Amino acid sequence: MFEIEIKHVLKSFDNKKVLKDINFSVKEGEMITLLGPSGCGKSTTLKIIAGLLMPEQGDVLFNGRSVLNIPVAKRGAVIVFQEYLLFPHMTVEDNIGFGLKMAKMPKNKRAERVKKMLQLVQLEACSKKLPDELSGGQKQRVAIARALAIEPQVLLLDEPFSNLDIRLRETMRSFICELQKKLKITTILVTHDKEEALMVSDRIAVMLDGEIAQYSVPMELYETPISPRVADFLGEKNYICGNIDNGVFYCCFGKYKVHTNKQEEVKAMIKPEDVEMMPLDHKRAIQGRVKQKRYTGDRMHYIIISKEMEIKCITTLKSVFEIGEEVSLDILWDKVVFYQKNK
Ligand SMILES: Nc1ncnc2c1ncn2[C@@H]1O[C@H](COP(=O)(O)OP(=O)(O)O)[C@@H](O)[C@H]1O
Ligand SMILES: [Mg+2]
Repeated sequence: MFEIEIKHVLKSFDNKKVLKDINFSVKEGEMITLLGPSGCGKSTTLKIIAGLLMPEQGDVLFNGRSVLNIPVAKRGAVIVFQEYLLFPHMTVEDNIGFGLKMAKMPKNKRAERVKKMLQLVQLEACSKKLPDELSGGQKQRVAIARALAIEPQVLLLDEPFSNLDIRLRETMRSFICELQKKLKITTILVTHDKEEALMVSDRIAVMLDGEIAQYSVPMELYETPISPRVADFLGEKNYICGNIDNGVFYCCFGKYKVHTNKQEEVKAMIKPEDVEMMPLDHKRAIQGRVKQKRYTGDRMHYIIISKEMEIKCITTLKSVFEIGEEVSLDILWDKVVFYQKNK
């Protein structure tokens, strides 16, 4: 078993609190993501787990035991950084074997392990090349092979895909996911890219402003964000204020039966993809006029003006509406999340 626990971790730089009270745990063999905007403290958290930084307060436990006094090399956690940080003057195989050499592994055993790693990341043909002779994706795979060569218990990946172009990013994402599942290595991935987090994680910890705002499996996170702050971080949303009484939501568009225990003044969060758009139909309660449309290839993003509100709507391309056109809208009320109004 190999579990990680982060407990009440605090960290400041220059008197500015960067990590305010970080708590989360990772189960054995799990791949979790720390997702948050740039500057929220993700890398700092990883460095504390790896042992490159000390927290001011709090603890990091591996299998229930504090590792704060265990030096980086003995902790069993390894970080792969976005910039790969390969040694430019060393061949691929020497880069991969570097940690093993430092650990004084005998030469023949080292060669065997390096060969295994080269196979694992499918770079056997590049073993004698220098980093400069490799593509971005290949460099990344060398960095991962070098990290895995020392057989760490914990793999920490800091924005590993950010420097890759979109297509390569997809390939490397699936590659790392498969590798992680195969090796069952406990992994923490850091990213600011929500699609990436949703795609690859067993669980996602959303980090906002030095705290973990929500820690959930991807679908639960996306479908039922715990607060408007988390909801907004995951993408543009619609909010309609109103009142709930006895399971009925009353707002400027009428009254709707809803499933929630919330009472009185609420704010309904409606995802743009949960608004259905259709040609004007006077039988439907919500009518409006198309103010803006943006084409994104597989979707159309609209803004509809209705009762002086802007309603965002994302649709497939089955029917396309024009700017100025009058339309009717349906809201999928069972997908709506209600927050207390003052949240
Ligand atoms: N060594 C350091 N010295 C001073 N400030 C730092 C240091 N490392 C990080 N910071 C600051 O801490 C905040 C969080 O940084 P970081 O953990 O790198 O964020 P993220 O990885 O989420 O983008 C940023 O405001 C950054 O400028
Ligand atoms: Mg960072």
